[in-house]
Amino acid sequence: MRVLVTGGAGYIGSHTVVQLVAAGHTPVVVDSHVNSRPSVLPRLEELIGTTIESHAFDLRDADKTSAVLAEGCFDAVIHFAGLKAVGESSQIPLEYYDNNLGTTFALLRAMERHGVRQLVFSSSATVYGETTTVPMPEHLPTGATNPYGWTKVMQEQILRDVAATGTTQVALLRYFNPVGAHPSGTIGEDPQGIPNNLMPFIAQVAVGRRERLQVFGDDYPTPDGTPLRDYIHVEDLAAGHVAALEYLAAHPDTHVREWNLGTGTGTSVLEMVAAFEAGSGRPVPYEVVDRRPGDLATVYADPTRAEAELGWRATRTIEQMCADTWRWQSANPQGYPG
Ligand code: NAD
Ligand code: UD1
Repeated sequence: MRVLVTGGAGYIGSHTVVQLVAAGHTPVVVDSHVNSRPSVLPRLEELIGTTIESHAFDLRDADKTSAVLAEGCFDAVIHFAGLKAVGESSQIPLEYYDNNLGTTFALLRAMERHGVRQLVFSSSATVYGETTTVPMPEHLPTGATNPYGWTKVMQEQILRDVAATGTTQVALLRYFNPVGAHPSGTIGEDPQGIPNNLMPFIAQVAVGRRERLQVFGDDYPTPDGTPLRDYIHVEDLAAGHVAALEYLAAHPDTHVREWNLGTGTGTSVLEMVAAFEAGSGRPVPYEVVDRRPGDLATVYADPTRAEAELGWRATRTIEQMCADTWRWQSANPQGYPG
């Protein structure tokens, strides 16, 4: 399949590009580099051993988005492009709604115009809002607690409405907590500024870029008092996209379907720190501070639907997630060049 990968230079997109090629598909990347470095592309080409067609522009430019789809006999789109920092989304909500919804509108219109009928969308466990049900199955009601989360809920609804017309097949992939890196250590997560998420923060402490981790609360109703999350290796996540793409192609009667991509297991913050210290051989000093507003005690997926329908299951362990993150971080202490 020829697949347009929006946000293909980003963290999850870049890992998915490698797996698309390994599965015999042809990815074409569009990325504005608002949150990625162009230098990821030569690294991808080196890993894959072939050139990758890529375009640098903002997908909200409807003419450019349409022109790319016009060019090329595309079978499908995987839509990763979007802004994703929860805290920032409350400070600049309009930018989040504009970017995340605007990219989706431009894509859907271009797909309609050029007869591209399949879309795999990056959704998030954030659409389960404040629910305390665990594990979380796909049929739970959706909601959100911040503008980023609302953009995902809204994009899901827009995609459901478009799919209901019968013109487009849509896979809504709800990721839990993506971590890890390609085992080569040449591509990985490279957050700009202070990392918002746990794993890149731990990795930057271990490599000496930051002094210590702040653990946001140890008085939660969990075994060690720190919150439980469903960390999933980005390589498993990438494989889930290939599985979803192939499912849509094989099931033309599926208009829209949600799948959780998670492991089904919760790991605490302190367990993650200990696993990273063991995997890297480096200390990760930490201090316990107040809870972060909005954090839930326990979040993990019910991944049975993805296993039953997509034949996909996360197989990589917390130890592999830490080892692969460390290989990437220690080889690239300042992230990508340029
Ligand atoms: P990322 O920021 O590394 O990748 C997103 C890419 O999209 C970046 O390269 C960015 O430059 C590009 N982009 C953003 N707006 C664009 C625009 N208007 N036009 C063109 N390109 C644009 O993020 P990621 O972690 O790879 O996440 C990918 C997707 O998965 C996002 O939609 C995100 O919301 C979703 N998601 C991520 C996580 C996570 O923890 N990483 C969890 C759940 C869902
Ligand atoms: C966050 C987002 C969520 C998003 C998810 C995916 C919030 C409130 N939620 O979730 O919407 O879908 O990322 O990437 O931001 N922690 C620390 N110290 C740190 C960083 C994190 O103790 O410096 C703790 C957090 O309290 C949490 C755990 O580590 O218990 C994981 O945090 P994080 O990586 O930010 O993910 P989520 O909170 O699950």
